[in-house]
Amino acid sequence: MRSSATPSARRIVVLASGTGSNLQAILDAIAERRLDAEVVAVVSDRSDALALQRAAAAGVPTVHVGVHTDETRSDYDARLADVVAGFGPDVVVLAGWMRLLTMSFLGWFPDRVVNLHPALPGELPGTRAVVRAWQEAMAGERTRTGVMVHLVPDEGVDDGPVLAVEEVTIRPDDTLESLTDRIHQVEHRLLVHTLSSVLTALSAQKGVTA
Ligand code: GRF
Repeated sequence: MRSSATPSARRIVVLASGTGSNLQAILDAIAERRLDAEVVAVVSDRSDALALQRAAAAGVPTVHVGVHTDETRSDYDARLADVVAGFGPDVVVLAGWMRLLTMSFLGWFPDRVVNLHPALPGELPGTRAVVRAWQEAMAGERTRTGVMVHLVPDEGVDDGPVLAVEEVTIRPDDTLESLTDRIHQVEHRLLVHTLSSVLTALSAQKGVTA
């Protein structure tokens, strides 16, 4: 996977706690040369995250940063920042990262942390956003949800300057599974597309020809 990167490729560190289908979308886009980037590491707070197995299968270095007992969030985040900074990322992508990050981490990577959230800006922050959207739709309270990709400047939850948004219509006959599938498809496309734009802009700033 890493061999697909060109000399101008920007360095991405992905933080993931779970399945890693969005990580896989990034890895596939790089392998298929739709994204000029290199995933230099995948870091997880969970040793059993499928995302770590996906990374290893693609030849990407993996790191498990487990939470120590009695450790504060801030202390954990400082350790995490140390690990991530060691890989020299241009961009840090939160792709199913299930911990809220404090400034002990975010302060190290200003304007460089990108989050993916399965809801529209200002709606359904936090966990289970797809489940909550579907439940509200079944109760007749909403007909659409969506996906957003945004920067994470501070400790706001699923909040921050929006980089890309796509609406997803909730159909009357949607099951939770069908809605989740459709949202994942949008996420995979939107995340790769947005990263491509972000990395191109970064390269332009640095005076590198992509
Ligand atoms: C995605 O829905 C993402 O928006 C949310 O967590 C989920 C992660 O999915 N933050 P995966 O692990 O990439 O499959």
